[in-house]
Amino acid sequence: MRITPSILSCDPAEFRPAVRAMVAAGVDGIHFDVMDGQFVPPITFGADLVRSLRPEGTLPFDVHLMTHTPELHFDAFHKAGCERIAFHVEATVHSHRLMQELKSRGLEASIALNPGTPAEAIYPVLDLADAVLVMTVNPGWGGQSLIHSTLEKIAQIRAWRPDVEIHVDGGVDHDTIVDLADAGATAFVTGSYLMRAPSIAEGVERLRYACGSKSS
Ligand code: DX5
Ligand code: ZN
Repeated sequence: MRITPSILSCDPAEFRPAVRAMVAAGVDGIHFDVMDGQFVPPITFGADLVRSLRPEGTLPFDVHLMTHTPELHFDAFHKAGCERIAFHVEATVHSHRLMQELKSRGLEASIALNPGTPAEAIYPVLDLADAVLVMTVNPGWGGQSLIHSTLEKIAQIRAWRPDVEIHVDGGVDHDTIVDLADAGATAFVTGSYLMRAPSIAEGVERLRYACGSKSS
């Protein structure tokens, strides 16, 4: 199981120390939530932030594009140094071509889907996917509660592709992570839980312990 914290719930003035603390806590990647004010109402940040934080570690940087026309942003984030880009199946009518484009760049290709989107929507591109990003809350904001109906969708995708990395994003805490792992998730995006924890390191440890991947 992989813990890939989102910086979304951090104070933007503290992004760098927060990423340093995540790296020091031994996380498995950093998740960047890119919002364009159109696909979702908020606006967050762009590729400059990824470039600026890239020297903080060699761990994978995951970019989650919550934008329309996601392909317009591939080049900037690729050049900024990310390893994986997720775009939403709802954001394009050309998801298959965009998955091919990510892979031809040598990036890991991840397809994201909203809670209201059935798993069948990504089935035609699943064979191209290095990862699937299942939104377990409606995208746009941290701090929401897990939508439990998404568990069945995770299990459905796991049954179709036993080997694919399934990232879950939203409402992950030390209780929900158990159900999410049981359903078939292998990577866990977490934002507000780590901000509420006594420290980022302790929050990460609690999540790993809850999943049984750490004995103390
Ligand atoms: C929501 C983002 C998530 C968010 C998760 O649109 O994609 O990555 O930061 O936040 P929590 O863990 O607070 O639900
Ligand atoms: Zn995200």
